[in-house]
Amino acid sequence: MKHRIVYERGLYDKTETLSKCESTNHPSTADIMRKNQNHIDPVKLTVEDIASMKRKQEKICVLTSYDYCFASICDSEGIDILLVGDSGGMVMLGYESTIPVSMQEMMVFSKAVAKATKRALVVGDMPFGSYQISVQNAIKNSISLIKSGCDAVKLEGGIEIVDTVKAMTSVGVPVMGHIGLKPQTAKLWEGYRIQGKTAESALKLISDANALEQAGVFGLVLEMVTHEVAEIITRNLSIPTIGIGSGSSCDGQVLVLHDMLGIYKKINPKFVKHYAELSGTISNAVTRYIQEVKSSVFPATVHSFHMDRSGLDQLHDSIIGNREEKIKGKKKILTKTRNGVDPLPGKQ
Ligand code: KIV
Repeated sequence: MKHRIVYERGLYDKTETLSKCESTNHPSTADIMRKNQNHIDPVKLTVEDIASMKRKQEKICVLTSYDYCFASICDSEGIDILLVGDSGGMVMLGYESTIPVSMQEMMVFSKAVAKATKRALVVGDMPFGSYQISVQNAIKNSISLIKSGCDAVKLEGGIEIVDTVKAMTSVGVPVMGHIGLKPQTAKLWEGYRIQGKTAESALKLISDANALEQAGVFGLVLEMVTHEVAEIITRNLSIPTIGIGSGSSCDGQVLVLHDMLGIYKKINPKFVKHYAELSGTISNAVTRYIQEVKSSVFPATVHSFHMDRSGLDQLHDSIIGNREEKIKGKKKILTKTRNGVDPLPGKQ
């Protein structure tokens, strides 16, 4: 059955803001909104839909996601891409950087996000070490992420990963690129620095971007690239750019969910806007819970389950019956032990 009355919140019941891109073949956000006014299941976005958003000048909204609950919320609110980022290693698993994240961990995150997602394109990050050893190994790992439910994979690197990207796309795996600050290797080399500040570094970024487009990536993340360079790259490419700390000219934006919700407090990059301060809200809730359990305020009657009257009466009768039986039994034993004879032989 296609029609389901499921989405009564968020994107799926918004009635206004139908966008200008109403006459194309790909379902735009406006199409999805219209469909969902009639409570029809949302249509899953494809890499082609994402590419077409650049042509229609519709901004692409991306957030990271690593689990079922947050992914469902983001998806039902109309996020276009859910990036199962290797940042999950830091915000979900507590690693100091993205370097230790394994394929197994990425596959667990990906399965949870994919299960929750009805509309967004799910892009899975290839973790450090999963695509550098050999092209064959990279293909194998990218297929594992696709089998875990991702619709595409993302890898960090410029000209040096062009052969890997070509090999992956040739076996049918859609690939998103990631240049500028590359967190997997930045820590080992120059540190977390803004990219594209000099003409030389700008030219390198521009040629990396062109090479990746040629190799077949369907989109490109630009991390901490200067506004000017991000603008040039975005104008040069026919594939969409997704910026993080790279200014407003990019075709889309991505943020780490736990940063923008104010949950992850270990770092606070300048480019992050906090749309909520959930860490405080969660702390308050946990404090109140502890207080209420300690003082027996929680659980209240409404949080408890009760027997019905007849069951309770039966229980009482049998408890009282048992007790009387026990008392009788005890008396018998006492008398027996006192005279050494059972006063009621055969009457057990
Ligand atoms: O892992 C991640 O969260 C990312 C974003 C920063 C783009 O790669």
